[in-house]
Amino acid sequence: MKLLIVNGPNLNMLGIREKHLYGDRDYEALCAAIRNWAEELGAEVELFQSNHEGAIVDRIQQAYFDGTQGIVINPAAYTHTSVAILDALKAVQLPAAEVHLTDVNAREPFRHVSYAGMACQAHFIGMGFDGYKRAMAWMLENAPGR
Ligand code: DQA
Repeated sequence: MKLLIVNGPNLNMLGIREKHLYGDRDYEALCAAIRNWAEELGAEVELFQSNHEGAIVDRIQQAYFDGTQGIVINPAAYTHTSVAILDALKAVQLPAAEVHLTDVNAREPFRHVSYAGMACQAHFIGMGFDGYKRAMAWMLENAPGR
């Protein structure tokens, strides 16, 4: 199964940003963990990170044409603001799973709304790096056309 893993703004600052929330492992460590899990699970994986909303929309749209069979997405701050990312996920009609490192529902009220989550069939929230593994495993078990 070909999976696209999308990470939004400031996730490239893991290991530097708010370590008490996000831990001290960096984005490269997250990518390495995801690549290892993909191998373990027998999935093909492509990683994409951007700080720009439009670039994320473009990459999701591209997934419709490049044979991607499922999208695992942590839209980061755009989770709570971006109707454009929600619409892109709806447009491509691919299975989608939402991941957040922290428990957004236990944080500030503005983090309780997830637009992107409205187009996702599964949600892995507050599980740290493991949320990505759970989301990938969910895709392999549940996504049609895998
Ligand atoms: C996050 C939670 C968001 O509210 C925040 O803006 C992020 C990261 C998470 O993974 O916990 O940048 O998506």
